[in-house]
Amino acid sequence: MTVEVVEHDIVIVGSGIAGLRAAVEIKRNYGDKLNVGLISKVQLMRSHSVAAEGGTAAVLYREEGDSYALHAWDTVKGSDFLADQDVVWLMVKLAAEEVRLLEHWGLPWSRRPDGRIALRPFGGHSFNRTLYAADKTGFYEMQTLYNKLLEYDGWERYDEWFVTNIYVDEGEFKGLFTLNPRDGNIYLFKAKAAILATGGAGRLYSFTTYSHSVTGDGLAMAMRAGIPLKDMEFIQFHPTGLVPSGILITEGARGEGGYLINNKGERFMARYAPQKMELAPRDIVSRAIMREIVEGKGFIDEVSGLEYVQLDLRHLGEDKINDKLPAVREIALKHAGIDPVEEPIPIRPVAHYTMGGIHTDTYYRVLDKDGRWIRGLFAAGEVAAASIHGANRLGSNSTTECLVSGRITGILAAEYALKAEEAKEPPRDRVAAEEDWVYSLVKRESGTPSYMVRRELQDTMGSKFYVFRTEDGMRDGLLKIVKLRNIMRSDAYVEDKSRVYNTDLILALETVNMLDIALVIAKGAITRLESRGAHYRLDYTKRDDVDWLKHTLALRYGEDDVSLYYEPVRITTWKPTERKY
Ligand code: FUM
Repeated sequence: MTVEVVEHDIVIVGSGIAGLRAAVEIKRNYGDKLNVGLISKVQLMRSHSVAAEGGTAAVLYREEGDSYALHAWDTVKGSDFLADQDVVWLMVKLAAEEVRLLEHWGLPWSRRPDGRIALRPFGGHSFNRTLYAADKTGFYEMQTLYNKLLEYDGWERYDEWFVTNIYVDEGEFKGLFTLNPRDGNIYLFKAKAAILATGGAGRLYSFTTYSHSVTGDGLAMAMRAGIPLKDMEFIQFHPTGLVPSGILITEGARGEGGYLINNKGERFMARYAPQKMELAPRDIVSRAIMREIVEGKGFIDEVSGLEYVQLDLRHLGEDKINDKLPAVREIALKHAGIDPVEEPIPIRPVAHYTMGGIHTDTYYRVLDKDGRWIRGLFAAGEVAAASIHGANRLGSNSTTECLVSGRITGILAAEYALKAEEAKEPPRDRVAAEEDWVYSLVKRESGTPSYMVRRELQDTMGSKFYVFRTEDGMRDGLLKIVKLRNIMRSDAYVEDKSRVYNTDLILALETVNMLDIALVIAKGAITRLESRGAHYRLDYTKRDDVDWLKHTLALRYGEDDVSLYYEPVRITTWKPTERKY
């Protein structure tokens, strides 16, 4: 078999904010000395980062009273003390320079009347420190980074190429196997260094803010390569997913003064977080909403059957809504037929973020099970768990981390690649083996279509691993996941037999990835016998710092299982205390 080989100095997988920021950092520092391959399973500007709405947190005006320490403390407290505090400090210190760079590169941040960059309140932050561009911040960040990247030569994009697996051997990154949809062949990508920036796994849930492309591919391929995944049981449920579609209604809406109300017209957050009210951290607001619903104080959507509470923006007035929240109005009108100027918006907690991810050190270098850097390999953005967000991420810290980690990995990958010898590569027969594995999925002549497996998986995750969890529910969920994995292995059916643009096949490959990640989430969640951040168990309602102030690490174990081990949290500044808002 002829092996198709593509070679770059550095290859970046994922073209969201983290991936683009890494590419810009390499190019602006090293120009033509290093060439970069940017692989994305979607067209570049369709990466899910474009959907980020509310903003980016940074300490911009220290003279007004904000400080790095305050931002770091808010983040650590928000994380329910599971964040590694050295990484948090690093992020908050680098954040301001990142947002100023974006300003210099042309990002149209929203402004104060005096022309300075405006800041809005966001949940769990004790200071207004979220920069925004109306409520389309991710789109403008992507566009600005992409425009900046276009200033440089020496990089190539591989839009819609699908990386199937990563090859790591002898403690070193050695290549990527990638399906080129145009000819259906598996290409071998060789590079001295690689940055994984593939995002999270939110499509494991059907009620989610994520685009359909976010299927945990980077996480799954890392795990299959023997790399540990950290803290995967912590899935964030954003309080305000539009009913019935799940589209994000930004926290910016509450930052601008929106209220949550139940079917009695009460602002119920007064009972759950009397000081911060609707701007408490997301785990707390989501639980409050679900309690109201469980106690019969919600509404019901007759069509979908989903129960919800309401987000009321009417008192903000039409001008403010149009100025600060134009996308919220447009989304509510188009997708729920509701004009927020006239009526409250139906919302409920929605899968929004994967707090866990690929195990890295403070500088986003990917670690093996013995804590050694896998030479040449980095992870940036949501796919990485460095770990800043611990058990619960604060709103607007995610785009911040994407920018900061993109910059760090860009620099470190470049420095490594400049010193490295020739790019390594896996044994060539591995490409044939990869092709056999990929196309084994299309050989079967009948069976269960992968979209049915995916749908059942999403139903399972949404019912058993949602805001409130129980031992029995999660065990049922795990059994279902194992059953679906068996179906996928022995009975999955891909109807489209062609090689060119076989999206049916890609759907099946994504489903394999989703099932790998579901197993890790389920095992981590069942084993963690406490409630912390977004992992809330009705049978263990308290945080248990004596036994559980530690990171979960999951390693692939045989073909069909994972083993768990634990590592301490790096506590450099603040000891855990009770979390009150
Ligand atoms: O609500 C939002 O705009 C989401 C922001 C975030 O997840 O950081």
